[in-house]
Amino acid sequence: MDCHNAGLSVGMVPTMGALHAGHRSLIDRAVAENDRVVVTIFVNPAQFGPNEDFARYPRTMDADLAMLGAAGVHAAFVPSVETMYPPGLVTRLDIAGPLGSRLEGASRPGHFNGVALVVTKLLVAGLPHRAYFGQKDVQQCAVVCRLVRDLDIGVEIVVCPTIRDTDGLAISSRNRYLSPEDRVRATAIPSSLAMAIGRFEAGERDATALATTVRSCLENAGLDVEYVAVVRADDFTEVEKAAPTNQIVLAARIGSTRLIDVVRLGVDTAPVGGGV
Ligand code: PAF
Repeated sequence: MDCHNAGLSVGMVPTMGALHAGHRSLIDRAVAENDRVVVTIFVNPAQFGPNEDFARYPRTMDADLAMLGAAGVHAAFVPSVETMYPPGLVTRLDIAGPLGSRLEGASRPGHFNGVALVVTKLLVAGLPHRAYFGQKDVQQCAVVCRLVRDLDIGVEIVVCPTIRDTDGLAISSRNRYLSPEDRVRATAIPSSLAMAIGRFEAGERDATALATTVRSCLENAGLDVEYVAVVRADDFTEVEKAAPTNQIVLAARIGSTRLIDVVRLGVDTAPVGGGV
């Protein structure tokens, strides 16, 4: 059915599958806000570096499709690599400036260019009215918001809150790589962010001091820190003096598992333990 001609609103939830409660929250919101919802499942090779986890990225198609049915989704788009990247494709997108090259962009060269290409192709193919993304991938959200403006793609980008387990760890498809011991150590991530929120609420405004609080907590738990930074929400430039709506972003490794997290200062409550 042509939803546009029929006057029906369409929501899209782009995913790489391995669906979990975080995805479910995006899907539930899309179902609540649109007449029709399409979920895309595509493990996008273009956004993985050569030494990253593309081959072992969890693929759980049967469970994913069962979840979509239970959630009342109207359509699943599950393209092959050849469909998304047919032979002869030469068009690339380049996310320029700090947004594309700093922090997550520096740790994962080319990652946001790959995300931008696939998201653009999905949005252009589906022409949804709204598309839903999770706040946990906050730099990705900023990239997608920027690209729909830059390329005049008339889609509303809806950013949904991070969903956390009871111990505060942000839910992620990559959490399933963690051994039980590493899963416990990973809770240093929400604890470190809770500490920084506590210090911010107690009046600390020095961004380096806040980032150091987070880094020390992670290192004390034996995590290998890739970056911790206090950034402006829109362009990901780092700030010296922290202010409400600035975000503390981090990436850390526990063994071979790489996790990211974020909190918004003055907006988010402490992810665990009251923030002291
Ligand atoms: O967040 C993800 O799962 C992916 O980066 C996305 C947006 C589906 C693009 O492949």
